Amino acid sequence: MHNIVEIKGLVKKFGEKAAVNGVDFGIREGEIFGILGPNGAGKTTTINMILGILKPTSGTIKVSGLDVSRHEEEIKNMIGFMTQETLIEADLTAVQNLELFCELYHVDKEEVSERVASALKEAGLENVADQKAGTFSGGMQRRLALVRSMMHNPMILILDEPTTGLDIQNRLEMWKRIRKLQEKGVTIILTTQYLEEADNLCNRIAIIDQGEIKAQGTPSELKSMIGKGSMLEILSDMRDAQKIADMLKSKFRISATVIGDKVSAPIIDRGIKVFNEIVNEISKAGYNVFSIGMHLPTLDDVFIKLTGSSLRDSVGENTSGNARVRMMARR
Ligand SMILES: Nc1ncnc2c1ncn2[C@@H]1O[C@H](COP(=O)(O)OP(=O)(O)OP(=O)(O)O)[C@@H](O)[C@H]1O
Ligand SMILES: [Mg+2]
Repeated sequence: MHNIVEIKGLVKKFGEKAAVNGVDFGIREGEIFGILGPNGAGKTTTINMILGILKPTSGTIKVSGLDVSRHEEEIKNMIGFMTQETLIEADLTAVQNLELFCELYHVDKEEVSERVASALKEAGLENVADQKAGTFSGGMQRRLALVRSMMHNPMILILDEPTTGLDIQNRLEMWKRIRKLQEKGVTIILTTQYLEEADNLCNRIAIIDQGEIKAQGTPSELKSMIGKGSMLEILSDMRDAQKIADMLKSKFRISATVIGDKVSAPIIDRGIKVFNEIVNEISKAGYNVFSIGMHLPTLDDVFIKLTGSSLRDSVGENTSGNARVRMMARR
């Protein structure tokens, strides 16, 4: 299959520190490719190098066969881009924001009014076309930014955390809009900290942590790294979590990961029978357990296996009681 973006040995150092540390991946024409990772993983730095905004310390990036470092203008025409901070011109109206981008990307003057009109319609902003963008809600600004990034009809669209900070309804709506662009043939590269987003929206994912790609593949390929079968998940108090993990190791030869009060372990192909035995063992030993269950492997289980920490906890997506308390304490 044809790779529209090809990245080899990409490194970016800021001083001594490598923000991106030897990254390789290829993006196929027409797919939605997700770069999934926590804060500071190197997502924006990677994207900015694809866009030519940042110069790599070493490595190569080719877009449609052209080296990014030597074909700035062509690359600019091929790629649309929505930044992490959305960066709407607050003092300009919706129409003026769109016209500005047409100018920046040298859209044919005769086509501008038609494109602006259809972008407004696309974004559902026809009624507020002449209002200042600064007065728009977060969701409206994001919609404006999305259509704005497509004013020059690029073949590739790069979205840096397109849904971070949006409520769930706006997030789902953004997914729909992104899928619609894919249906029109646009290749989409997006970064995200959200496991559900990567899982539901992306055809393929690269998991990035501390500047390195830990794994890549389709969501189901990544989950199959855990193996066939189920994950065991136990929430206990901090004191008992490690004891439970030790018990799983010694009695069941299961190697578990402990993160705070959470013990998780693959119980591949051993299913409900071993689950029952584990429950019995815990109850005999008298460990303090608040919740215990099995689930199919998720991308978070993959992330834990690869990095030893949970992406869910790092971005506050956890639904477990204690993590929620920790999240609230942080607010
Ligand atoms: N201009 C810069 N100068 C120095 N360090 C930088 C610079 N830009 C990024 N970094 C560092 O590089 C690392 C990766 O940052 P980057 O912004 O790429 O992460 P990210 O994955 O986009 O994170 P987030 O999800 O928070 O946006 C971080 O440790 C960051 O502090
Ligand atoms: Mg970023």
